[in-house]
Amino acid sequence: MNEIRDAILADQLDALAGLEVPQSYRAVLVRKDEQDMFEGLPTKEKDPRKSLHVEEVATPELGPGEAIVAVMASSVNYNTVWTSIFEPVSTFGFLERYGRVSELTKKHDLPYHVVGSDLAGVVLRVGPGVNKWKPGDEVVAHCLSVELEDPAGHDDTMMDPQQRIWGFETNFGGLAELALVKSNQLMPKPAHLTWEEAAAPGLVNSTAYRQLVSRNGANMKQGDTVLIWGASGGLGSYATQMALNGGAIPVCVVSSPEKADIVRSMGAELVIDRSAEGYKFWKDEATQDPKEWQRFGKKIRELTGGEDVDIVFEHPGRETFGASVYVAKKGGTIITCASTTGYLHEYDNRYLWMNLKKILSSHFANYKEAWEANRLIDKGLIHPTLSKVYPMEEVGQATLDVHRNAHQGKVGVLTLAPTEGLGVKDAEKREKHLSAINRFRGV
Ligand SMILES: NC(=O)c1ccc[n+]([C@@H]2O[C@H](COP(=O)([O-])OP(=O)(O)OC[C@H]3O[C@@H](n4cnc5c(N)ncnc54)[C@H](OP(=O)(O)O)[C@@H]3O)[C@@H](O)[C@H]2O)c1
Repeated sequence: MNEIRDAILADQLDALAGLEVPQSYRAVLVRKDEQDMFEGLPTKEKDPRKSLHVEEVATPELGPGEAIVAVMASSVNYNTVWTSIFEPVSTFGFLERYGRVSELTKKHDLPYHVVGSDLAGVVLRVGPGVNKWKPGDEVVAHCLSVELEDPAGHDDTMMDPQQRIWGFETNFGGLAELALVKSNQLMPKPAHLTWEEAAAPGLVNSTAYRQLVSRNGANMKQGDTVLIWGASGGLGSYATQMALNGGAIPVCVVSSPEKADIVRSMGAELVIDRSAEGYKFWKDEATQDPKEWQRFGKKIRELTGGEDVDIVFEHPGRETFGASVYVAKKGGTIITCASTTGYLHEYDNRYLWMNLKKILSSHFANYKEAWEANRLIDKGLIHPTLSKVYPMEEVGQATLDVHRNAHQGKVGVLTLAPTEGLGVKDAEKREKHLSAINRFRGV
């Protein structure tokens, strides 16, 4: 592995084709024999530092249409939190099901799950049938894994019945020294970014792009007012940037003055600190409080000069969904991609149908959408929101930060890269965007 790392660090990328792929590599994983370890504990007390391990694992066999990537850096997504606390289900069920699809997918069904749905690195080997990529290519990977044997996936690959999220519903993810991906997950690494910066946006940036911008999502247009929950978090920090540079008006919800400052520094003017306002949308576990929805709606109108929001960018789920449906404008759209606080949502349907509002769903992104989202990063129109970077050995702490909502933007993880700050190929472009790239650092 050292030879590979040294060749990359020395920028001798042509040499990689001549180097042997190691038989094993270090990876972040959860173990099947530990999947019940947190049984009976409340969600908040399930500690990823106990379930995530860094271990040496065997390199998987490279199949047709696949690539092995030397991973320089990766990042923590919320799906790593879910895998590490075995909620809402253990991800080993996904691996078992995938293993049953074909001879080639059997390799995914193992007693361990190598996690991670982002990477920045260099292609080491490609399998038969891969023509677009070659060893030595500097890449990032999006996390959509599809088989595409069914016609259903051919208009929009997210509709493939065999659609999976790599590193969550498949094995051999990006939080590791090597990763196995399908070649149609690969995209060029933006040259002005370091490895860890390039690895940060992938999953959340692509998801926010489909959810907010794509016509498969809310199809945001200039002048739309967009309520963004968790506006300084993983998804929200990209949605906020997309609203701003797409000519829309974000109303950013955050939970502290520091988070309010950071979204303001991105250019957002309308900001609600939900902690300071003390919203309590639920009186108790079973009863919502419509008065609190009204108070929230009034605050939005105060900020917007009396307007309601065209789009609600939803992901907290149960806790906020009733309020989200209430505050959307007549004819407006509530678009959801998640349920962090609970997946059984409740809302008052009268506000939906009488006001002709729409609830839409969104999930990750197809290759084209992920490519467009990566292109925005490459062009310096959207910037990584990396706040903190951990070495691979501390991935448990990195994941705990996200689990406890103690982070901002994205949390990065160094895998093969020995230090931060490496991998920049276009210093001039970097200089131009440096303050925006560094906006979240150290906050
Ligand atoms: N379907 C998909 O393809 C897809 C893709 C990416 C993520 N997701 C899911 O989306 C969710 C968010 O992911 P993320 O990466 O953005 O996570 P994140 O970085 O933790 O950000 C989520 C933000 O939500 C806000 N939040 C948390 N609890 C809240 C509550 N009770 N009420 C209102 N806001 C609350 C927090 O912001 P404040 O505390 O500042 O308000 C937090 O920063 C996760 O469940 C994840 O699994 C789904």
